Amino acid sequence: MEEKKRIFSGMQPSGELTLGNYLGALKNWIKLQDEYDCMYSVMNMHAITVRQEPAELRKRSMEVLMQYMACGIDPEKSILFFQSHVPAHAELAWVLSCNAQMGELSRMTQFKDKSKKHADNINAGLFTYPVLMAADILLYQADLVPVGNDQLQHIELTRDIANRFNHHYGDTFTVPEPYIGKAGARVMSLQSPENKMSKSDPNPNGYVWLLDPEEVIIKKFKRAVTDSESEVRASEDKPGVTNLLTIYAAVTGKTVEEAEKEFAGQGYGTFKQAVGEAVAAELAPVRKRYEELAKDKAYVEEVYKKGAETAAKIAYKTLGKVYRKIGFVAR
Ligand code: TYM
Repeated sequence: MEEKKRIFSGMQPSGELTLGNYLGALKNWIKLQDEYDCMYSVMNMHAITVRQEPAELRKRSMEVLMQYMACGIDPEKSILFFQSHVPAHAELAWVLSCNAQMGELSRMTQFKDKSKKHADNINAGLFTYPVLMAADILLYQADLVPVGNDQLQHIELTRDIANRFNHHYGDTFTVPEPYIGKAGARVMSLQSPENKMSKSDPNPNGYVWLLDPEEVIIKKFKRAVTDSESEVRASEDKPGVTNLLTIYAAVTGKTVEEAEKEFAGQGYGTFKQAVGEAVAAELAPVRKRYEELAKDKAYVEEVYKKGAETAAKIAYKTLGKVYRKIGFVAR
């Protein structure tokens, strides 16, 4: 039997998961589970590049894992684990950091953005963040990495590091490809549609939380910023409406053109209500499953412990190979 290709991806537990995380990544993760060997991790080591309140981080990390499961990541099909439970991530990150250049790291837009936002805490981890991300992916010899648009630059860097390492030390790593979904790869804020929807947005009306109740979701869409026209049409000068059309398309599986036709001649009010209802209907079962899971801590614990054990086996196989290649004496 031909071996399945491997997928790795993850999210930082640095805030509540949003509709952006769902449409840009999670929805694709679910779809890919049958066809690939999938590993999905909660990237808590990445989250501490920004100051976190420890009790909050612990709580949110569990919540993110349960949200993966509530959305439909099935532990029977996919490996689920916390990044910090597999120390090989940090170990490989060190080796890779000796194969990454200061110049390429300083070109990363996420680093530039976050150093502006957290000017009082531009720590070394924030700078080497993409190296840890490369380690996450390369440890598991992942073929594909399903992410939203904003992570493309990091995957490109991962590929550069992998190619460089393979070139110096001989074939070691699979060079991964990004996987970007057709719709929803860049969901924008409902309040300022020129910015991406983000879990660290201080204005909760800008994002939809995966666990927002139905009426809250609908209200947020009703309040979404549009423009002074009334035509439901995607266009560069209509970022609000375009974003809503994209969201509607990603949720319903329709194309943006089909959605435009559906709402032709109708006002923004009807359109916003329909988008809100479609999103609320998609997320209602997620909330229900989440509430069930939250009552079954023992099961969730079993899932992430078993996940880390399986992940560690794969990870240490790669790390052993890396240590041999670079000339570390065997234990
Ligand atoms: P993070 O935690 O910021 O986001 C998690 C995933 O959600 C996607 N995403 C979006 N997609 C569409 N529209 C949006 N508004 C939106 N906001 C977020 C992101 O592209 C991502 O796929 N560095 C990563 C975490 C990470 C990782 C990895 C990912 C660490 N190691 C290894 C893949 C493989 C991050 O900060 O994602």
